[in-house]
Amino acid sequence: MTDKLNKKFIDCVRSIYSKEEIIALHRPIFDKIDKINILKTIDSNFVSTAGPFVEKFEKKISNYTNSSYAVSTINATSAIHIALKVLGIGSEDEVIAQSFSFVAAANAITYTGAKPIFIDICKDDLGLNPSSLESFLEKNTYLDNGKLINKFSRKKISCCIATHIYGHPCKILKIKEICERYKIPLIEDAAESLGSFVAKKHTGTFGKIGVLSFNGNKIITTGGGGMLITDSERIYRKAKHIASTAKIPHKYEYIHDTTGYNYRLPSLNAALGYSQMEKLNKIIKFKRKLSKIYNDFANENDIKFIKEPFGTRSNYWLNTFVFKSLKERNSFLENTNKNGIMTRPAWRLMHNLKMYKDMARDDMKNSKILEKRVVNIPSSVPNNWYFKDK
Ligand SMILES: Cc1ncc(COP(=O)(O)O)c(C=O)c1O
Repeated sequence: MTDKLNKKFIDCVRSIYSKEEIIALHRPIFDKIDKINILKTIDSNFVSTAGPFVEKFEKKISNYTNSSYAVSTINATSAIHIALKVLGIGSEDEVIAQSFSFVAAANAITYTGAKPIFIDICKDDLGLNPSSLESFLEKNTYLDNGKLINKFSRKKISCCIATHIYGHPCKILKIKEICERYKIPLIEDAAESLGSFVAKKHTGTFGKIGVLSFNGNKIITTGGGGMLITDSERIYRKAKHIASTAKIPHKYEYIHDTTGYNYRLPSLNAALGYSQMEKLNKIIKFKRKLSKIYNDFANENDIKFIKEPFGTRSNYWLNTFVFKSLKERNSFLENTNKNGIMTRPAWRLMHNLKMYKDMARDDMKNSKILEKRVVNIPSSVPNNWYFKDK
C-alpha cells in the first residue's frame, strides 16, 4: 500500500514539475528584472547598507504588510535578536517559544542571555497552541507589579514568540489576547509567512514586532535577509540604531553609544528583494494552485494535508502532509528522496537538542506526535507555470 502511494506521489510531482530535473523543496524564482536591479546596484557602487535600495525595499515591505515601519536585517534570526534586545530582554528573563520550529527563535533568545520556555503547538496549523500557553501561564506564573513571574525559577517571563509555521497563520488573535492579559509583549516569527493574512491583516502585524525572512528557500528571497516590522516609532528607531552598530549619525566621526550589531541588509540584497516583491502576488497565486493539487492528492489517498485555517489566507510556503505513523512517514521520505524528489521531515524539537534539553517546557503532546509524522513536499512554483506567458 505504501509503495503504491509513494509511486503515485512521485508520478504526481514529476507531472507538475515536468520541465525540471531537480525537484527541490523550495527554490526561488528569478527573472530579468532581478538581474537588472542587481547590475544597477553594482554600477552605482553603493552595494552596502548605505545604498538606495535598502530604504526602497523597506518601504515596499511596510506598504505590503501595512505596518508603519520596517528595518531590514541580514537575516530573520538577527531580526529576532534585535526585537528581543529592543524589548530589553536579558539574562534575568525567560521567553516563551515553540519547540516545534526552526532553531532561530531559541538561538536568538539565548544570544540575549535569556532562557527559552517551550510550549506545545496546535495540530491543525502547527502554530503556538493558545490553550497550552494559557494553561502554562495559569499554573506556573503570577503577576507582581505588572511583571509576570515564573513561580519556579523566580525569573520574569518577558516575552512570547509565536510562529506562523510553513506559511499558515497561527491562532494569533487568541495568543495576543492571552499575552495582553498576562502583560507580556508578543513577537511574531513570520519568517515563513510573507503574504499570509488573518482577516486581511498581514501576519507579523498583530504583536509588538514581526519578523520576516528572505532566505533563499523562502517565498521571495534577497539571497539572505530579514525584516523587522512594527507600528511603534520608538521600537523602529531603537531597532534601526542597534542593528546599525549603534552609531550616532555624524558627518565623519565614529561614535557608538552602546554595543550594537552589524546587522543591516546590504543594498545589493535589498535590490533583489525590491524586484522579488513585484512578483509576490503572482507567486502566491501559483502556490495556492499547487496546494490545491496536493490537497486533492491527500484527500484521494487518505493523508492529512495542512490547510489554511478558516478565516485566514495562507501563502502555502511549504505544503505539508501528516502521515498516520512514523513507519509510513519514513517510507515516504526514503522513496521520494531516493527518486530525486526532495521531501523533508519536521525539525527536531528544540527541547530535544542538547543545548536546550534542560529548558522548561509543557507536555508537548502535539509537538511530539507531529515531529514524527510531518513531511514537507516540493513547493516551488513550477517554472513551466510561472514563465508560461513569457
Ligand atoms: C520559522 C523560522 N524562523 C526564523 C527563521 C530564520 O530565518 P533566517 O534564515 O533568515 O535567519 C526561519 C528560517 O528558515 C524560519 O523558518
